[in-house]
Amino acid sequence: MSSSKTPSSTLSAPALKPLKLNSSGLGQSTKPSSPKLSTPKLSFSLGGDSQNTAKSDTTKTFAKPLFAKPKLAALSLGESTANAIKKPAPWSPSTTALILVKREVETHDSMSFTFAAANETLFDFKPGQFVTLAVKIDNKTHYRAYSISSVPQQKQLRLTIKRVPDGLVSNWLADNLNIGDSLSALNIAGQFNSSDCKHKSKLLLISAGCGITPVMSIAKTLLTHDSDTDIEFLHCARDKDNVIFHDEMKTLLSQHKHFNVQLLLENSEGFASFSADDSANKKTDSSALSHQTGMVSSDVIQQLYPDLKERTIFLCGPVGFMKAVENIAQESDFDMANFFQESFTPAANNEQQDQISSDASTASVMLHVPDFSVEKEVVQGSSLLEVLENNGVPIIGACRAGVCGSCKCKVTKGSVKSTSTETLTAEEIALGFVLACSSTVEEDVAVALN
Ligand code: FES
Repeated sequence: MSSSKTPSSTLSAPALKPLKLNSSGLGQSTKPSSPKLSTPKLSFSLGGDSQNTAKSDTTKTFAKPLFAKPKLAALSLGESTANAIKKPAPWSPSTTALILVKREVETHDSMSFTFAAANETLFDFKPGQFVTLAVKIDNKTHYRAYSISSVPQQKQLRLTIKRVPDGLVSNWLADNLNIGDSLSALNIAGQFNSSDCKHKSKLLLISAGCGITPVMSIAKTLLTHDSDTDIEFLHCARDKDNVIFHDEMKTLLSQHKHFNVQLLLENSEGFASFSADDSANKKTDSSALSHQTGMVSSDVIQQLYPDLKERTIFLCGPVGFMKAVENIAQESDFDMANFFQESFTPAANNEQQDQISSDASTASVMLHVPDFSVEKEVVQGSSLLEVLENNGVPIIGACRAGVCGSCKCKVTKGSVKSTSTETLTAEEIALGFVLACSSTVEEDVAVALN
């Protein structure tokens, strides 16, 4: 597994804007001033969601206060201003950096990063969505989208990231991002979320591998705000060492009577002791996660969820896994209007890139990007995103899996072959817009970024 070893000091704090009070309360920015990264006056609270997941042996607590607190006591505050202080404005990625306050090892190759906003605002998002990070490595900024695994309206935002073989950004974050470091972010987005997707009061959440990340956010949010929601959670993993959020699921299981978790492990060797390793007597450990051995199949789904048709399914995992579950649902006459899925994991990403690469030939075609004076011969069948990036076109490829829409560009001449148009409207497609990460160059093309 190779990864860049750039020192964490290359992560520079962005130009932060101080807050001032006005008649409408906090959150109005003034002109930029120097970041106050070294002014020790205010510490971040690590309460709420992040405390639920703390693991004492692997967690470093953020102890060094970073930002100066506004002198509120010296000002006369009206009622509306006081209310605004109680409920701060939502986090704005364009003005406020993310500060890493906690790192937690989840499995041998996955890690959770908990961030706080530099101005202590709340993170407002829909459970299931992702955030696009801007990560500077060797003086080049890379954009990547990562699913959020925490609950909205908290002062912390948790991302759970899995190492990827030869994955530049994920591996760099795991190796280099330290407590107190700051990152910029572009936005929070994503159509796969439990707010926009109309769902029943009975859910079946299905995930595999790191696909558990957005699904965990959905589960925790619904359990927090609607304790009557009936949630069955099926998580699939290779073996006990690859179960992300094992202890967190146990905690949820013990706290919510309408929540049930089932693990499906390809290899369950050693799982019993793993489940009960913190219990004095594993026979009385009622919160130990139930598990089966095997792969997802129609028989397993039918046996575990005889009321399948009464549920809404949210699914996230590698492409092959999701296709298998989709087929099972269709064969079971499941109403696919109640079926929501997102492939947003490194495995899916790799498979898609592999598919694109395997289509490449040795013939050449011309790539024109007039706005950036690019006129280059490229290999026919190449990923459009990669040839644009390699030729210095400032396109953002955040998810690289046809999900986030950040790589949208317009083919003004010629055509490309696309495997995803997920975030594009029919009108945009008719106008020639494509997702570069999910498109291959098949003939001479001209491309514009807008
Ligand atoms: S990079 Fe996200 S859709 Fe292309």
